[in-house]
Amino acid sequence: MEENKRVLVIDDDEGIRETYQAIFTPEQESEIDQKGVALFGGNSLKPKFKNNIDYQVCVAENGNQGIKLVKESLAENRPFAVAFIDMKMPGINGSETSKQIWDIDPKIRIVIVTAYSEYTSDDIISTTGRDDIFYLRKPFNHEEILQFARALTNEWNLERKRDLLKIELKAANQALEDMNSSLEGMNKILEDMNKNLKDKVEKQAALIVQTDKMASIGILAAGVAHEINNPLSFINSNLLALKRYLTKIDVLHRKYDDVELFLRYSGLDNAPALLEELAEFKKENKTELIMSDIYDLTDESLDGIDEIKTIVDNLKTFSRIDEPSYSYLDINRAIDNTINILWNELKYKAEIIKNYGRIPEIRCFPQKISQVFMNLILNAAQAIEKQGTITISTKLVTTDQQIDFIEIKIKDTGCGIPKENLNKLFDPFFTTKPIGKGTGLGLSITYEIIKAHKGSIEVLSELGKGTEMVILLPF
Ligand SMILES: Nc1ncnc2c1ncn2[C@@H]1O[C@H](COP(=O)(O)OP(=O)(O)OP(=O)(O)O)[C@@H](O)[C@H]1O
Ligand SMILES: [Mg+2]
Repeated sequence: MEENKRVLVIDDDEGIRETYQAIFTPEQESEIDQKGVALFGGNSLKPKFKNNIDYQVCVAENGNQGIKLVKESLAENRPFAVAFIDMKMPGINGSETSKQIWDIDPKIRIVIVTAYSEYTSDDIISTTGRDDIFYLRKPFNHEEILQFARALTNEWNLERKRDLLKIELKAANQALEDMNSSLEGMNKILEDMNKNLKDKVEKQAALIVQTDKMASIGILAAGVAHEINNPLSFINSNLLALKRYLTKIDVLHRKYDDVELFLRYSGLDNAPALLEELAEFKKENKTELIMSDIYDLTDESLDGIDEIKTIVDNLKTFSRIDEPSYSYLDINRAIDNTINILWNELKYKAEIIKNYGRIPEIRCFPQKISQVFMNLILNAAQAIEKQGTITISTKLVTTDQQIDFIEIKIKDTGCGIPKENLNKLFDPFFTTKPIGKGTGLGLSITYEIIKAHKGSIEVLSELGKGTEMVILLPF
């Protein structure tokens, strides 16, 4: 930065203005000397030390001219460092001039020069409103002027340097802050990346678990179904044979009652003893009770066998074995199968209302369609916190077009879905359930299966009231 050595002199006395010029131009020493003596009287003003600083001096004859010069110099970005201002001038006086100059350029250093003792520094301070004003009595000598000029220009320049340093410091601070915040930003990005990676790994792991789970359920179901089927069928046929035999034994039992009656009235000698022995045996062994119970027992056993058969059938639905991939499916029956499988999950929570319509069987991948019902009914049950209903309706929808549809509605009175989640439901891995509880795959798999069947699925939901899933399957 170039040092500012610009000095302004405002004085109405031409001689004094020239003296200032001379003071700041040391070559004219002898001339100053003469003029100084002529003007102020007294001893020679010959400087005791030389001025070797190259001041740029501007002079003005009155306050207004000086103010104008300050304005111009500021506009040209060449401000004055110091102003020497005469106190008593025609027009505005020195302190008023100072005030107006400071209004324009508060940084300029001002020295008031006065020969009049009636002006005290307090007067000047009260007019200008500033106490950093300097005060010099006439007659002055060169050294005083030069000392003021040197000290005040130095101060001015130091202050500008300090301002500049302040600006640089502020910029450096800002840069530091910027760096800090970009570091924070980078940290955040890294954290997000980490989190994304973690999420991905968790989701991948969940996917593997889910796929594994489905595969092992299939294998297990197939194995269990196969193993149970054999004993089941022979127990079933044995029980049926037993029931047939029982009717014969029952007939024999009745015939025996007739024989007993006959014996009682036969008059044979050993008849009473024989009858008593028989009565004893019957009483002891509760044979009457056994005969009436025996039918109930076989009937109950046969019912039990039927139930086991249903379970095995249901399990078969979930195994790929035993099933041609593309075949006819009775949707109502498939839904019932699913409800049976999920019964443990449903029974305490939901009342199931079935509105099944008369619908034709459709050609589809039965096991996949069953999986759709499984996912949707399970979601409905999981949406119900304590107690609610799940209404399942099916019907045939005929259209003007050539295609007819089967409409399946699964409606629950659960928690409902917030609006902002509606368009994310079918995204793979979208779940609001805790890890381990939901993989977020149910609806995406459902969507894929329905798409593969050229059908559609629509979600109607009201937060806090419940959700309805509407599926259309063409056939
Ligand atoms: N009937 C419903 N009522 C309320 N919210 C539901 C319902 N069905 C689905 N949702 C919301 O949609 C999300 C995604 O469902 P989706 O079946 O795809 O995954 P999930 O049930 O969370 O996990 P998964 O099915 O793999 O066990 C659920 O977490 C839940 O927030
Ligand atoms: Mg689900």
